[in-house]
Amino acid sequence: MQVLAVTPEIYPLIKTGGLADVTGALPIALARQGIATKTLVPGFPQVLAAVAPSVPLLSYPDLHGGKASVFAAKASGLDLLILDAPHLFERAGGPYGDASGMDWPDNWRRFAALGFVGADIAEGAIPAFVPDLVHVHDWQAALTLAYMRYGKAADTPSVITVHNLAFQGRFGAGIFAELGLPVAAMSLDGVEYYGGVGYLKAGLQAAWAITTVSPTYAVEIGTPEFGMGLDGLIAQRAEDLTGIVNGIDVDIWDPETDGQLKATYSAKTLKARAANRKAVEERFGLVHDGSPLFCVVSRLTWQKGLDVMAGVLDELVASGMRLAVLGSGDAALEGALLAAAARHSGRVGVVIGYDEGLSHLMQGGCDAILIPSRFEPCGLTQLYGLRYGCVPIVARTGGLADTVIDANEAALAAGVATGFQFEPESGHALVHAVKRAIAAHEAPKAWATIQRQGMKADLSWDRSAAKYADLYRSLVARRTA
Ligand code: ADP
Ligand code: GLC
Repeated sequence: MQVLAVTPEIYPLIKTGGLADVTGALPIALARQGIATKTLVPGFPQVLAAVAPSVPLLSYPDLHGGKASVFAAKASGLDLLILDAPHLFERAGGPYGDASGMDWPDNWRRFAALGFVGADIAEGAIPAFVPDLVHVHDWQAALTLAYMRYGKAADTPSVITVHNLAFQGRFGAGIFAELGLPVAAMSLDGVEYYGGVGYLKAGLQAAWAITTVSPTYAVEIGTPEFGMGLDGLIAQRAEDLTGIVNGIDVDIWDPETDGQLKATYSAKTLKARAANRKAVEERFGLVHDGSPLFCVVSRLTWQKGLDVMAGVLDELVASGMRLAVLGSGDAALEGALLAAAARHSGRVGVVIGYDEGLSHLMQGGCDAILIPSRFEPCGLTQLYGLRYGCVPIVARTGGLADTVIDANEAALAAGVATGFQFEPESGHALVHAVKRAIAAHEAPKAWATIQRQGMKADLSWDRSAAKYADLYRSLVARRTA
């Protein structure tokens, strides 16, 4: 089976979050299921810098105001189709905004172009590669499915994966005329959304099947509390919706071989983690006193609930832990965390920025990772934590609820606990969970059992990829039936 994936991000070429980790790892796991994927990605500068150009397979004299082409490339075991459109994608800054974080005003145009080209390929524009199925990720790729639906590839099976319902790609009605869709598409069951145009909404409406990245989040998004205005549509399509938990790339994230660590280790040599912990302490300016060392590796946004954590940080420090925070995002939150670090010099350290290597070192050296998210479609850092013996302390929501087994009495007695869960959005519950973890940490043998239990979990992509493969096959069978 040949699949066209369409995504704005793919690890290791361009990443702002977990979406890239997923789109970078899934094709490789799907190949083991007999499914060949080519992934269409925008030619951002970071992408172009990482691949060798080749003869264009497709050319557009005028794609939303400039010349564009699609060329094939290989990188890190991935088969890529790169949409090279300098007027849309070759800009300094991030994939969605400038260096200061301001969204590009023409994002609607940039990702309409991506969708248009995705649908073109679905229709057979590259004769040597006519996909049996198209799989798009998040709002930036979602319009592909609207173009397909109102074009010649309407009978090509399609899947949309929602990585985060908070990002919807909503624009004013004025853009509709420039999308090149038929007038009929500007309707309730098309791309129209609260009087404007909704890219994610359009994709959810057009997709043959919808997936999201954990079973719990799949249920949550059908409710007004988590549905972000789309719960009605999601609930309507409940029969076509499944939650498939993300895997992780167990080769990149392997404590036995990880080159970013000071010392590699296995479940049998957990003591070697001490060298990594020391390196973390030095990097974050923390005292070396043997007290529990917790960490945060995160985008600093409302979703992640770190404002709740910042609100109880003094209590957390008083309970005896030290904290290393790596993250960037919301300026107010960055400020609050830096202020806490100044208040608790030696016990709280903050590095503002994005540092992949340091994130590995933290997972390899810290005792626990805190993830107090308000909502979390899947979450990957708790999975990295499990694999690295960095015990996850998580809010009970979305994928966090699905992947961490709380160390309650029953789970401890059965020897299956892998972390700690608490009620989301409650500073009090967070403090309580941290205190439980600190108490558990005082019994080194019991703590090591929790660490080892997490390290044993099968977090590889194979199980999840098999579920995607089954879904793909059932859709392709439906087409030919
Ligand atoms: P989200 O995609 O919502 O940000 P995930 O947990 O799914 O959350 O994925 C986040 C990914 O980004 C993980 O791979 C995590 O290690 C990485 N990450 C987040 N913030 C940073 C940072 N400041 N430095 C390095 N890696 C980070
Ligand atoms: C989104 C979600 C995160 C998920 C990731 C990959 O960024 O916020 O929970 O793990 O996508 O699916």
